[in-house]
Amino acid sequence: MFNIILFGPPGSGKGTQSEKLIEAYGLIHLSTGDILRREIAAATPLGLEAKSVMDKGNLVPDAVVVGMISSALDKNPQAKGFLFDGFPRTEAQSVALDELLAEKSTEIGVVLALDVCQKELVKRLLHRGLTSGRPDDVNEAIISNRIIEYQTKTMVVANYYSKFGKVVHVKGEGTVDEIFVSLRSEIDKRLSIK
Ligand code: AP5
Repeated sequence: MFNIILFGPPGSGKGTQSEKLIEAYGLIHLSTGDILRREIAAATPLGLEAKSVMDKGNLVPDAVVVGMISSALDKNPQAKGFLFDGFPRTEAQSVALDELLAEKSTEIGVVLALDVCQKELVKRLLHRGLTSGRPDDVNEAIISNRIIEYQTKTMVVANYYSKFGKVVHVKGEGTVDEIFVSLRSEIDKRLSIK
């Protein structure tokens, strides 16, 4: 099993690149943002609770997202590997993920960190907000709050996995295809020495 974390700030291209990577490597895509938005669309109690937090651009409590990931892992025992997108987002989530994977005798193979400057992030998200209907894309104040949440709570995830030598930084600016080629090259290097 080969498991990847696609890491980066809001708007860095995690979702866009995930779609291409899961197809190329046959991985299961686990995006906590997508799972939460499905819960909101279905108006479940979890979705109703998460909506007000997400609409402001704040992080949902660790226990909620860890529970979602735990059940998704259990539902896919035959997976060749998982691609985590938007998870983990705190050190507590990172520790919990490592424990869940260890229970399944596997681990994170690599953390691919997309580097994109703040000006470009805001530009991309405001542009998407014109058509996406995502409440957290609608104005610059909410987008800035998401970036602050990332800087204050999520950047530590990269430090956490750096201690295990698992983090690789990839330039997240350029065309979608150029970035995909860079990500593939980092994954292929690691798969060839497995
Ligand atoms: P989540 O859904 O994870 O959103 P996010 O991290 O804010 O990321 P985005 O989906 O906005 O951006 P992305 O990096 O995936 O980029 P994308 O490919 O979409 O989380 C939403 C909320 O859910 C959080 O704020 C939080 O409340 C909650 N949540 C989720 N997970 C959580 C967790 N683990 N713990 C606690 N709370 C959690 O691209 C963005 C735009 O840029 C698109 O329009 C795209 O077309 C465009 N684009 C992509 N690549 C390029 C490129 N190379 N050049 C130009 N444009 C590009």
